Amino acid sequence: MQQNFLPDTATPADILRAGLAAARGPVSLACSFSPEDVVIIDIAHGAGLDLGVFAIDTGRLNEETYEVSEALAERYRLKIDWYFPNHTDVEGLEREKGLFSFRESLENRHECCRIRKVEPLSRALSGLAGWVTGMRRTQGVTRNGLSAIDRDEVNGGILKINPLLEWTEEQVLDYAKEHRLPMNRLFTQGYRSIGCAPCTRAVKPGEDARAGRWWWENAEQKECGLHRR
Ligand code: ADX
Ligand code: SF4
Repeated sequence: MQQNFLPDTATPADILRAGLAAARGPVSLACSFSPEDVVIIDIAHGAGLDLGVFAIDTGRLNEETYEVSEALAERYRLKIDWYFPNHTDVEGLEREKGLFSFRESLENRHECCRIRKVEPLSRALSGLAGWVTGMRRTQGVTRNGLSAIDRDEVNGGILKINPLLEWTEEQVLDYAKEHRLPMNRLFTQGYRSIGCAPCTRAVKPGEDARAGRWWWENAEQKECGLHRR
């Protein structure tokens, strides 16, 4: 969809502006407190755009991630709409399968992501005309077919806006450094993509940025269900 009305030279701010106009209703950023998400918050703030922010607390996030959240709330006077998983589902999962069932099979991993991420996402998106993500094309094979602005048919046909789609990791980190944005302290310990604590680890030099996410799985499987198409 996007390619029809956005030039190749469109900046992230242009993409955000066009997406917000096309959505004709409330739009929020899904924030995992990654450098990408933090950059988007800064760009939206600088451009004076009306962008909400929500975050899903899976119950398994790193302390360092919460610290970024607090730093952002303070810096931008930001109100973050937190969503939690349904407690009955989490209690059922943990009682039945323990605390690390996601390591046992892909099916169990998807079950945990569905309970802790996908179900809260569907509540976060209800009432929105669009949502923004920090996904980039070079993040891996699961992301190279995305558009900057698309209809999200899985979530009721609302708009899905990916303003940093064409940016490299280097561009994101350079922007963050230049603007002194709050960064997750785990990045100084070799982490390059951060999700839930038990499913994320630091990567070695030369490894892919997302190699530390669900490191026991293949690259084609490294999605949690938030971005089904
Ligand atoms: S994931 O699907 O593999 O977990 P990734 O960590 O690369 O995703 O993040 C991609 C984008 O998904 C983020 O930029 C953010 O927009 C959204 N996202 C991921 N995790 C969360 C979360 N816990 N809460 C809100 N949005 C999230
Ligand atoms: Fe569960 Fe790991 Fe998915 Fe987090 S990333 S929801 S802990 S399987």
